Amino acid sequence: MPGANSVTSNQETLHKDLEEVVRKYARTTFLRPIADHTREAFAEVEEFVKKFYDARNNGSPPRCSEDDKRDVTAPVAVILDSGCGTGESTIHIARRFPGIPVIGIDKSCARLNKAGNPSQTAGEDVPSNAFWIRAELLDFWRLALDHVRSGQWTIPYHAVYYPNPWPKQSEATRRFHMHPIFPTLLALGETIELRTNWEIYAREFAEAARIAAKELNGSPTLRFEDDERGDSHSGTGKTIKCESFDPENPETAFERKYKEAGQKLWRTIIKTE
Ligand SMILES: C[S@@+](CC[C@H](N)C(=O)[O-])C[C@H]1O[C@@H](n2cnc3c(N)ncnc32)[C@H](O)[C@@H]1O
Repeated sequence: MPGANSVTSNQETLHKDLEEVVRKYARTTFLRPIADHTREAFAEVEEFVKKFYDARNNGSPPRCSEDDKRDVTAPVAVILDSGCGTGESTIHIARRFPGIPVIGIDKSCARLNKAGNPSQTAGEDVPSNAFWIRAELLDFWRLALDHVRSGQWTIPYHAVYYPNPWPKQSEATRRFHMHPIFPTLLALGETIELRTNWEIYAREFAEAARIAAKELNGSPTLRFEDDERGDSHSGTGKTIKCESFDPENPETAFERKYKEAGQKLWRTIIKTE
């Protein structure tokens, strides 16, 4: 696997165009036509989600309690593991959220073919709420957001673990947070967790979220780990935290490689209240 080396870049701090690019895209809609294969993949995911809840609830959406009189068309919870690679994180997340379908999405057939293999499950069954699908994220995310906006889905947690960092300054607009897709990604998840082995990527992602949220809503709270102010809320409904972390049990193939190589890992967590 490539990637056990530290990220090398001709960029030493946040990209000089970050604010301009993020602000430009904050109010625009990414209009590239959605590929048919991702529409078909999305339909497979819808089917999995429906069957999962049908099996658990005899055909009704999940209810909080016997007394819960919610409309039967209430949104169902779905968790996304975007760019899941070989899918190991999907299994960890599915175990963390056993009552919610967890969808691992990746465009690489070769990587997805390894999902759920015995080395990932430590001899246990693949959790029944884990599902993998081959799809293009830039398209899948827009279909998912349509489902959120139409009240069919809620996304309590969205994992974006170790995306390609595109470290060359000249390739920066391929980073998710400097791409026109970013407002869509930012709207997909009550909690979004980005993990990376490149500090600049984590800090840029956090700053991009702050810029985009400010452009759209006002001024969100941004907290770095060396910041004493804590998680206060400023009324925009978003809290953004950027910190280094040391996973005791790595949850992805890349995470394990980076940890074994002694690299510092970073995460940005964006919460929408
Ligand atoms: C560096 S790997 C990390 C994989 C996994 N999250 C891990 O930590 O082991 C990035 C993954 O994102 C996938 N990916 C990148 N861009 C994508 C896109 N636009 N649509 C779908 N998958 C994408 C790649 O195929 C690759 O598996």
